[in-house]
Amino acid sequence: MTTVEPKGTVHWIDHYVVGTNDLPGWSYWALHATGLPIRPINGLTTNMRKKNTPIFCFMWWDDESCRIGAFLQPENYPKAKELGKDMPRCGFYVRAEDMDKHLRRLDQHKIPHTDSVKSVENGEEGKVVCFADPDGNQYEFWAPVNLPKGAMEVHTTENVGRISHCVYGSRDLARTAAFFEKYCGMESERNAQTGEGTLVLRMHAGARLVYKLVDQLDERIAGHSPWWDMHTAFTLRDEEFFPNYRRMWDGLPEEAGAKEHLNDSRDKEDNFPARTGLHRSPVGYKWKEIYQRGDEFYDWDGHAFHFIGGLPKNADGSLALYTPKEQDEYLRELAESLKKNQAGVSNSDWRASTVDPQSK
Ligand SMILES: [Fe+2]
Repeated sequence: MTTVEPKGTVHWIDHYVVGTNDLPGWSYWALHATGLPIRPINGLTTNMRKKNTPIFCFMWWDDESCRIGAFLQPENYPKAKELGKDMPRCGFYVRAEDMDKHLRRLDQHKIPHTDSVKSVENGEEGKVVCFADPDGNQYEFWAPVNLPKGAMEVHTTENVGRISHCVYGSRDLARTAAFFEKYCGMESERNAQTGEGTLVLRMHAGARLVYKLVDQLDERIAGHSPWWDMHTAFTLRDEEFFPNYRRMWDGLPEEAGAKEHLNDSRDKEDNFPARTGLHRSPVGYKWKEIYQRGDEFYDWDGHAFHFIGGLPKNADGSLALYTPKEQDEYLRELAESLKKNQAGVSNSDWRASTVDPQSK
């Protein structure tokens, strides 16, 4: 494991979202696989159905700074690849001494999984188990030799810690590395154990983004029609939230329109550049309406992300443990800032000065 302090503005993965063809089935799977408590399914009222709003469910870890979610998809997913081969995959920290207990629980609930194997493939030593949900989305229990601070302080009743990493496909690792360096200040981490065709980007608090070199894009990504809403959210310091978005809005194009209206071919979708776009949530629609830029962003390979703020819980100021600051609070700040700035200021000027923390 590296001893170099990770660079960049991203501290943790706050949440990870998949698509599902059976939302109640996914919720019970998440309860059984991880011990997360069942939460209500959103979007199941007649009024919401009339508006065709998304049907989804989020399940939170105990201190609410970590969650996973699932959105009901408009079509059935094609079969996934074998365990450990399909991407994206989401990992969760566990303790090595608990791995057998986790395997017994997966067996008890007939959740398909691999054996526990030692791995150094992504440049860090530990034990890994890959498992899948009923839709074929894949996950990992990851027990590194060195658990970072905050990894297990946030945990479920079954002692599953917070999100440890996500694994995605990339058709050009250098392009992906440049994207995260330019817009998040992250640097690729490489050591003698890092496998060929692997890009590792470590976050401040310890979680990692891992990209694997592929020929074709992952199937289950927000950039592919007809799938919806699968994404990953990164935790940034409160004061980095708007400056980080501003870097993206300044440097990236905005997607042409809401995906449901575009009807682009798969080939065209696969050749879209990295971009910002509409975040298909109530806050996201409002955000785009008042600011004309979306708060979702895509890498070069169709994976969708957004930022979320984090306020340190401890006096040392680190975000090892944090209280999340949600998008709706930032939307309020954005709206107030726009109101203050709109009179007599040109569009580019107010956009540049909007919600700059230094000017508040
Ligand atoms: Fe999100």
